[in-house]
Amino acid sequence: MKNKKIGYSCTECGASERKWHGQCNHCGAWNTLVETIEERNSKFAFEQRSNPIVELVDVQANEDSRNSTGSKELDRVLGGGLVKGVVALVGGDPGVGKSTLLLQALASMSRHSSVVYVTGEESAEQVAIRAKRLKVSKHPVKVLAEVQVKKILDALGKEKVDVLVIDSIQTVYSEDLQSAPGSVAQVRECAAQLTRFAKDRAVSVVLVGHVTKEGAIAGPRVLEHMVDVVLYFEGDAQSSFRLIRATKNRFGASNEIGVFAMLDDGLRSVSNPSAIFLSRYDGDVAGSCVFVAQEGTRPLLLEVQALVSDSQSGNPKRLSVGLEQNRLAMLLAVLYRHAGLQVSDQDVFINAVGGVKVNEPGSDLAVLLAIISSIKGVPLPKHTVAFGEVGLSGEIRPVQNGQDRLKESAKLGFKVALIPKGNFPRKPIKGIEAIAVDRVDHAMEQVKGG
Ligand code: TYD
Ligand code: MG
Repeated sequence: MKNKKIGYSCTECGASERKWHGQCNHCGAWNTLVETIEERNSKFAFEQRSNPIVELVDVQANEDSRNSTGSKELDRVLGGGLVKGVVALVGGDPGVGKSTLLLQALASMSRHSSVVYVTGEESAEQVAIRAKRLKVSKHPVKVLAEVQVKKILDALGKEKVDVLVIDSIQTVYSEDLQSAPGSVAQVRECAAQLTRFAKDRAVSVVLVGHVTKEGAIAGPRVLEHMVDVVLYFEGDAQSSFRLIRATKNRFGASNEIGVFAMLDDGLRSVSNPSAIFLSRYDGDVAGSCVFVAQEGTRPLLLEVQALVSDSQSGNPKRLSVGLEQNRLAMLLAVLYRHAGLQVSDQDVFINAVGGVKVNEPGSDLAVLLAIISSIKGVPLPKHTVAFGEVGLSGEIRPVQNGQDRLKESAKLGFKVALIPKGNFPRKPIKGIEAIAVDRVDHAMEQVKGG
């Protein structure tokens, strides 16, 4: 490897160093230097090619080059299908269905494109067994069981490829680096080589990425910057519903979601998902409120739950699953300051049912109502939904797409909506009564009794 030299670069500031240090000399961050290959006289055509300056109007932007994945919901999050030369990253917990979905998509695309599935986690036999289960074993999907990035690229050199899936990027490694497969250095280097391949040959490449305990794709941040599209799988292992969220998309809307159901023979698109995350429990319970979220272009109804109980320790817990922890602390402070409700000696737990992650401030009012309902021990009136953002001065602020959210709730049989004044409909919406909630203390009054 005459023209390859090992160096170290900082994952925080990008500075490069000859030797490894515990602390970066440039930005002072600790433990951020990772091995990298410094390319000298690189032979990659991609780097050597120099492009002329062109008029933007003369550039051929061919939207038809999108390759449909055969799955309506996956196409939706991608913005209509896979663009030629795109590099997409699909992350999610183990067992959530990444391999299943991608194998299904490849099988469907194999009808009109040349597709290759590179597996580093399972053997070719295991992939064949899965294909049988998914009833796609007769499709012309090419499989390569290999983990060395150079060998993968060599093998692909002779193949005609339109779509390539690497399952997973953490198992692939480059011999030029000494770090173990899955380390930041390896993940970054291999992804860089595969990205170059994608752009050079106009191949759509999908990288499967594992997530760390904290839920981020391993190889922190580096990968997300390198790729064009980042998709995250969400969902509870217990429930059969899975959600794919685009957190970055250079070729489409970024907050779009796709919804799937995991069946015996793979993942099936759910085209009308608004009610799937509502609990089937019909009784009145305190501490629960239905929130109408707006996910991409569709409203989605979710149940948020709260439990407030006497703390057994001097340090009361504040725990949130699926909702933002910091917003919980903020809501409790607002509740105390503007409605006089004190919970400083009580544990507070909140949960979004179904393993969904809610990161919309519009969920504030529903969380607040669930907390108030739990404290008072009084259920909210039946068939009630809520949405609205809570401000620091105790006001309830309007959210986007209020009308759509109300209409969807009415369609699903909800009768009452507690909403911000700013979202109050000009014309009444049939089947649902909107109640404008102005301030936090006003929201308190909606939970009657106790
Ligand atoms: P998988 O795609 O292997 O997950 P990942 O690649 O994200 O780790 O999904 C595995 C899970 O999906 C496993 O628990 C079994 C379940 N499953 C089904 O329910 N139906 C199916 O048709 C398949 C192939 C898997
Ligand atoms: Mg897998």
